[in-house]
Amino acid sequence: VLVCTLPIWLKLPVQSLVDEISAAIDAAGGAISFEDFMARALYSPNGFYSTSGRAGRRGDFITSPEVGPLFGCVVARAIDTEWQRVGRPKKFTVLEVGTGPGTLARSILDAQFQCRSALDYIAVEVASAQRALHPSEIVSLAELPLDSFDGVVIANELLDNLAFRLFVFDGRWQEAFVTTQDGNFLEVLRSPQDLPYWLPETAAHGARVPVQDQVQKFLSNALGLIEHGALLVFDYFLTSHQAVSGSWRDWLRTYSRHQQGEHYLRQVGQQDITSHVMLDQVSLSSAPDHVSTQSDWLRKHGIDDLVEEGRQYWIANAAKPDLKAVKMRSRVAEAEALCDPAGLGSFKVLEWRR
Ligand SMILES: C[S@@+](CC[C@H](N)C(=O)[O-])C[C@H]1O[C@@H](n2cnc3c(N)ncnc32)[C@H](O)[C@@H]1O
Repeated sequence: VLVCTLPIWLKLPVQSLVDEISAAIDAAGGAISFEDFMARALYSPNGFYSTSGRAGRRGDFITSPEVGPLFGCVVARAIDTEWQRVGRPKKFTVLEVGTGPGTLARSILDAQFQCRSALDYIAVEVASAQRALHPSEIVSLAELPLDSFDGVVIANELLDNLAFRLFVFDGRWQEAFVTTQDGNFLEVLRSPQDLPYWLPETAAHGARVPVQDQVQKFLSNALGLIEHGALLVFDYFLTSHQAVSGSWRDWLRTYSRHQQGEHYLRQVGQQDITSHVMLDQVSLSSAPDHVSTQSDWLRKHGIDDLVEEGRQYWIANAAKPDLKAVKMRSRVAEAEALCDPAGLGSFKVLEWRR
């Protein structure tokens, strides 16, 4: 009995997500946009992030905060710099959006920095399964708050997970929709209702590009919340031109359990779907005041000093190391991973100031 029932029970949530998307396709008259498909695959109650999907060693992919606490220590320094720039207000808010399980929040709140006592930490995470993992000293919300504040908005690897419209060149630009056939999801192309003006007139047959309206919407909403302070976005970027002229497999990716996943219409709800963020599209709504690589940004905010401090602490305590000494020593390896020019170090940091 156990052998028969266990696999069916395990498959239940996935089955109902497939049912949910199939019902939406029926209700829409035969197809939904890729954007709608992606949003449901990731964020429906049985979607990837609402069930098992998450960042971390035991999760599906490693992000900078998940490398270790060093990233949060550097971000804490950048928060201090911003607090000083805007005149050391008594109350300073950190609004982290797309918090995942709250690892960056934990590292920042454990770090030593001057404005710690002025800090209010608000985490915005759409998936309740991830909000449930947040530390108790932060405020957890499902969507952006309404009131503006003095402070810093942080989004680490959020923008690459926002659902987007997918355009495909097939003699002319068409939009990708998703339908069902014989129990599988299938892509169909339709004339788009509107054509972004920046699309090139022509492209190679089969060329693809993401149209990231939700990225622009998020940026303008986030910037609208900041009275005095900054918006910091950490992510992987390309340009729309690079997306059109390169292979779509280089920017439209799926991940599961630290491996690249299957085609984005397969394994629905069991794999992450992500796209590089298009830098030119970001700049359409509001160009960032500053763009740097993650390695340059971390150096500017003192990662080398923190590593040296870690090294010295280890040397002083190596004979009888405590937990802190081990953490301090691990800063060396964390910095290498965070600044690796072939990996996280090549990510970009976009900064807007208000
Ligand atoms: C790639 S994970 C990054 C998690 C974390 N920031 C990190 O760096 O480890 C993206 C997270 O953003 C969340 N997310 C996606 N859209 C969101 C939205 N509109 N508002 C808040 N969170 C969102 C997802 O549920 C997921 O937890």
